[in-house]
This record gives sequence, structure tokens and C-alpha cells, in this order.
Amino acid sequence: MLRYWTAGESHGKTLLGIVDGFPGGLEIETETIDDELRRRQGGYGRGGRQRIETDRVEILSGTWHNRTLGSPISLQVINKDYRLERLDDLDRPRPGHGDLTGAIKYLGSIRAILERASARETAMRVAVGALTKQLLEQFGIRTIGYVVELGGVCVEPRDAPLDDQLKLRDESIIYSLDPSRDDEVKQLIDETQKQGDTLGGVVEARVEGLPFGLGTHAQWDLKLDGRLAHAVMAVQAIKGVEIGMGFEAARRPGSQVHDPIQYDESQKDGPTLGYVRPTNNAGGLEAGMTNGQPLVVRAAMKPISTLAKPLESVNLSTKQPEAASYERSDVCAVSAASVIIENVVAFEVARALVDKFGNDSLQEMKGRWDLFHQMARQR
Ligand SMILES: Cc1cc2nc3c(=O)[nH]c(=O)nc-3n(C[C@H](O)[C@H](O)[C@H](O)COP(=O)(O)O)c2cc1C
Repeated sequence: MLRYWTAGESHGKTLLGIVDGFPGGLEIETETIDDELRRRQGGYGRGGRQRIETDRVEILSGTWHNRTLGSPISLQVINKDYRLERLDDLDRPRPGHGDLTGAIKYLGSIRAILERASARETAMRVAVGALTKQLLEQFGIRTIGYVVELGGVCVEPRDAPLDDQLKLRDESIIYSLDPSRDDEVKQLIDETQKQGDTLGGVVEARVEGLPFGLGTHAQWDLKLDGRLAHAVMAVQAIKGVEIGMGFEAARRPGSQVHDPIQYDESQKDGPTLGYVRPTNNAGGLEAGMTNGQPLVVRAAMKPISTLAKPLESVNLSTKQPEAASYERSDVCAVSAASVIIENVVAFEVARALVDKFGNDSLQEMKGRWDLFHQMARQR
């Protein structure tokens, strides 16, 4: 089983990750992991923290001459903004954070909660996801994440080949697939910042080149749709997850939702094995298994909870009404969320991939992949 853990506080010395069950024999490029970390730090609307950090990953174990050994891989991203020991506690919990609930649950300080609840931890989730993306690429599986809505402004994704979409996304300061809308969104973020307020939005992750049959219909906790929803929902500030047509499917009759099945002999050597679908409203998943179509997952992010013009709160010492505490903060981090969602989705896909094709060595995985496709074509 492929799994990972993270450790580290927002202003602690370092962020750590341990990835267990990763196959041996894959040559790892740390530069591409760093590229993803850099993207996570970017996007218009971020706060001062991102100017301090220049995240870089260091692989501390599990590789030899840059190749994975099949043993646990440990990763580190050092916090340049390490100053935890010098930081004071907060006394006025911020609505939308775990400040109040965490301080009561653990009978302790707000600082103890916010340091770990902070989305700084997602730097490690991105590093782990970016590591697994290198495994997926070995099988021609590729991912992209982008913003489709910000502060109520919809930026429709452009239907284009993945390489063109990646180019468009990288041109956009908000990581959408339509850079011509950047100015409009930038203005909205600037105005919101002036008002001391914050914004949320919707991001989409897409995975192409998937084989049939990742995940399973057979047991609830192994269904890939469920695992994806868990991984995506567990990202800070994510409050909704959709797969394919998502909630819209609930409003339509079945004839306008389900994707007809056709056969095209000329595509039998591709991931669809020739079974083409004129639409992909299911978002690449049926009964918890990939169906050869691209995977499409969307996530709704709430607006950032720390407001420069703080909401009403209570001083925990005096119990008197006071404005919530303010910690240096982003105005909008939806672009960063698109990077995080892409990478946590990549991890879940990689996990399902090793569940199906084994994880002792890359070589064996490739052999089993070829054998499966050979057998499936004869089905
Ligand atoms: C990329 C990213 C950056 C974030 N930056 C901030 C921030 O600067 N200030 C803040 O108050 N919340 C920020 N958040 C949201 C909080 O981490 C999150 O709302 C909080 O931990 C409570 O968790 P919950 O929203 O999942 O309930 C960010 C979230 C993400 C995904």
C-alpha cells in the first residue's frame, strides 16, 4: 500500500514527509518537485509569507544515486520563516479557523492549533504528490490543475490538448486556462484586499492517460471516488468536492447525464481500449473504478478566514467581546489550492496504480501493466 504522513509546524524548523510503499527503481528529479513547490507559493493574492519562503525539497532517505530503493522515502522542506519559539499566543480566536475549538479540545493555546492546522503543511503534500507524478508519467499518466472560478467570477476551462492547457495555465497569474480574464480577476482581488476582506473559488484537477480499473467497486473504503473525495476534502479550506458533472447531475434526467458507450477499432491500442464515450459527465469514474476516460475532480475553497478587518470574537481570558486576532495572511489562495488539489489527486491515483500493478519495482509494475492491457484487449 502506498501511503504518507507529514509532520511540522507552520513556523517550526522544517516540514517532513514519509512516503511508504513507493516502488523501487524510479529515477527521481528533485527539480520538478521544486517547480511544483514554487507554483504552490504563487498565484495572485498571496500574503507576505510567500516572499520569505523559497521552498526546496531535500530527499533524506529511500534513494540511492537518485533512484528509489523500495524503502520508505523521507522528504524535507525547510521553513525559512522559522520563529516558532519567539511567537506569542493569540487570545481572540479567528472565526473559520480551528482556534476556538482546538484550544478547548486540547485544553491549550491557540498557537498550538494554528501552527499545525495552517496550510503551510500543504507544501509537503505537494512535494509528495509531485514525487508520485513522476511515477505516473512512467505510464503516460499526466495531470493538470487550474482555477475555474474565483470570488464568484467563472473562468471556463478551455477544451484543448493537455500541453496547450498547461501553457495557458502557466501564462495566467491566477492559474486559469484563460489568461485574458486575468486583469478582471486581479482587479477583484485588489478591491477585496482594500476592503480588508478575502476570496475563495473553485479549482479543477484533470488526469489523462488512465487505464481501466484503478480503484474497485468491491469495498467502500477502496473505491477511488471515495478516496479522492477524502484526499481533496482534507485540504485546508476545501468545503465541497465534485467528480465529473457533480451536483449538476442531480438536476438532470439520466439521458442527459450518463455517457453512452461506443466502440472505435482505431483506438483499441490506447487507454480506452477502443471503448469511446462521446461525453465524460462521469468524470472518468464509474462504480469507484477508472473507466479509461480522463478523471475530472473539482473542489470548492472557502474564502480565507483571517480578515484584515476582523470579525467579531471573544477574548478567551476576559470573555469580553473583541475583534478577532490578525495574523499575516493571504487575501486569496485559490491558485495555490489548484496546485495542492492536483497533487493530492495525483497521489490517490498513484496509490490505486500500485494497488493494481504492485509496488516492489517499477520494472515489475510495467510488466504487469503490459500484461493487463494485453489481456483486457482480448476481453
Ligand atoms: C493554499 C492555502 C493557503 C491558505 N492561506 C491562509 C491564510 O493565509 N490565512 C488564513 O487564515 N487561512 C488560510 N488558509 C485556510 C486555512 O488553512 C483553513 O481555513 C484553516 O486551517 C481551517 O481549516 P478548514 O477551513 O479546512 O476548516 C489557506 C488554505 C490554503 C489551501
